[in-house]
Amino acid sequence: MTITPARHRLLPMLHGSRSSLTCHYRCGDACEAPVPNTSENDYFGDIVAKAVSRRALLRTSALGALAAAAAPVLIASPTHAATPGISPGGLRFIPVPPNTNDTVTVPDGYAWSVVVRWGDPVTPGAPAFDPLYQTPESQAQQFGYNCDYVSLVPLDDDLGLLVVNHEYTDEQLMFANYTGTPTAEQKRIAMMAHGMSVVVIERGAGRGQWQLTSEPHAMNRRITVSTEMRVTGPAAGHPLLRTAADPLGRKVLGTLNDCAGGTTPWGTTLHAEENFNGYFDASGPVPPENEAAFERYGLLTTSGTTRGWSEVDERFDLALHPNEANRFGWIVEIDPYDPGAVPVKRTMLGRMKHEAATISYAADGRAVAYLGDDERFDYLYKFVSHDIAPVGSNAAARAASHDLLDRGTLYVARFDGDSPEEEIDGTGELPADGLFDGTGRWLPLTSHQRSFVPGMTVAEVLVNTRLAADQVGATKMDRPEDVERNPVTGAVYMACTNNTERTVQTVDEANPRAPNRHGHVVEIDERLNDAASTRFTWRIFMLAGDPSDPATYFGGFDKSKVSPISAPDNVAFDAKGNLWISTDGNQLGSHDGLFAVPVTGPDRGYLKQFMTMPVGAETCGPLITPDHRSVFVAVQHPGETEGSTFENPSSSFPDNTIPKPSVVVAWKQSGAAIGL
Ligand code: FEO
Ligand code: CA
Ligand code: CA
Ligand code: CA
Repeated sequence: MTITPARHRLLPMLHGSRSSLTCHYRCGDACEAPVPNTSENDYFGDIVAKAVSRRALLRTSALGALAAAAAPVLIASPTHAATPGISPGGLRFIPVPPNTNDTVTVPDGYAWSVVVRWGDPVTPGAPAFDPLYQTPESQAQQFGYNCDYVSLVPLDDDLGLLVVNHEYTDEQLMFANYTGTPTAEQKRIAMMAHGMSVVVIERGAGRGQWQLTSEPHAMNRRITVSTEMRVTGPAAGHPLLRTAADPLGRKVLGTLNDCAGGTTPWGTTLHAEENFNGYFDASGPVPPENEAAFERYGLLTTSGTTRGWSEVDERFDLALHPNEANRFGWIVEIDPYDPGAVPVKRTMLGRMKHEAATISYAADGRAVAYLGDDERFDYLYKFVSHDIAPVGSNAAARAASHDLLDRGTLYVARFDGDSPEEEIDGTGELPADGLFDGTGRWLPLTSHQRSFVPGMTVAEVLVNTRLAADQVGATKMDRPEDVERNPVTGAVYMACTNNTERTVQTVDEANPRAPNRHGHVVEIDERLNDAASTRFTWRIFMLAGDPSDPATYFGGFDKSKVSPISAPDNVAFDAKGNLWISTDGNQLGSHDGLFAVPVTGPDRGYLKQFMTMPVGAETCGPLITPDHRSVFVAVQHPGETEGSTFENPSSSFPDNTIPKPSVVVAWKQSGAAIGL
């Protein structure tokens, strides 16, 4: 794509409150790079535009066949009636007003504290943090940078294993006297600040408070860019995954840019490798046979050369080791209960800029994983296992699950709207039927045994999943991020963060605003409420923004009462089935935060802000504990604003020194359940 002057003028709007440093370090300036999906996989609008008129289109037998095929899913959804015995809503807290405080702010009657922060000792014997004398060895034993996904698996009622992703690093905030180009030592430290931490935490004084054990626990663990991992599933061992260091293509060192994730019912955690492209040096020639796929994954247009990792570890040089890039972009499964367990990259779940992997049970007990690919104009996927998932999360269940995610079928989503295309005009104004809604299909890409994409083998579909999905008619979404299934109703919710490049020509009913500056949330009802169904109905649950903006929608609730929200990113459910939404890149002038909203009952759509973040931070990994006493979030990249440095940071969160990405926990001071 040629960068036009007009596009340059748009750049400040693209960043908004999101610092350009975030774009640079986290996603390799993805929003300044060309959209990687240049496939001719048509937008719904494109399809319509090719016809002379909709009236003419309706006369065609092709669309008639499509409508007939879609008819069976036009059934009343059982999922939006309140479930007997469950009280929806109950979110009785006074919302936190939008603000720009350099701290975490929670509603009156609530408290919060830091659970663990960058540099805290993780492994037994880890040195105390000294930001002026960091080494790769010390960082590899301490809590890493830019915490994202947060999971808590129980050890007993008062002790648990907190599992946290470390997505990326901000060198200008981590290192004193940083010149703009990292030294070799700084690169090695940054590498060790990536990955994951597993730390044992214990209940604090308040019932909802949690804290690190007084000494690092023997079960604590750091996983970094040098931790050995196994590759499993149908693509393991394929030539595309073989390198000089690993001629069998089954063993990878480390994990990169782990964003959100999921906790499995069998007690393991899943970690989504997202913007892996930003770590690879593409300044040299790459083999011609790799070029198309590398382009589609943004490997040739991002800024891996400025991180400079290839200078201390040549596997990050695409000219020397092109297949190394194929070994990232996977879902990684770890067993937090076993500090010695080898993490596993599960190729059956496809390779993309994975945003999350949340597991649900199909009606027959198979495991289903919902998977977002966080890029403008990319797709929503799901995996359905071949085998029945084990019940429970004890050691026997974990052992029984060892290859569950290696066999099954990978699908990509297509969303078809039900309103006339002239009513989907990019303004966000609701169509005449009152909803942006329609039907959808899960289009099979491959099973573990058979590819459904002409010209691509099973392994090729899994390694270059985006190329496969381009061929089957998937719907290009506005950055499909976190996806979760409501444990009470069974409906599935997908956050689409935003897409300022969505145009009137490319809108469709599932992505109806042009540009989509504030993002939206899509609600999906799987047919018969079975997660393994290949058909669904869908509707937009929320068009985010300032509620006074007519182009917003909050589940039909009175907009004068809801909190403004922008850039929905991670989602989670509490045990009552309320949806919690964290934001990344608020475009409304206030800080990012955490919101909660009932999705059923009279308060459906009554969105309220529960928490705000310090300067420069996004909100990640919301987790509402099953006992409803604690809300965990990761405060990612505090102080990450233009011109902010180690010496002059724009935030001093959390301890009035240099900013430190931290996991915090909030609870109700009375000890009562959250929201009650
Ligand atoms: Fe790492 Fe798409 O957020
Ligand atoms: Ca409609
Ligand atoms: Ca995110
Ligand atoms: Ca989530």
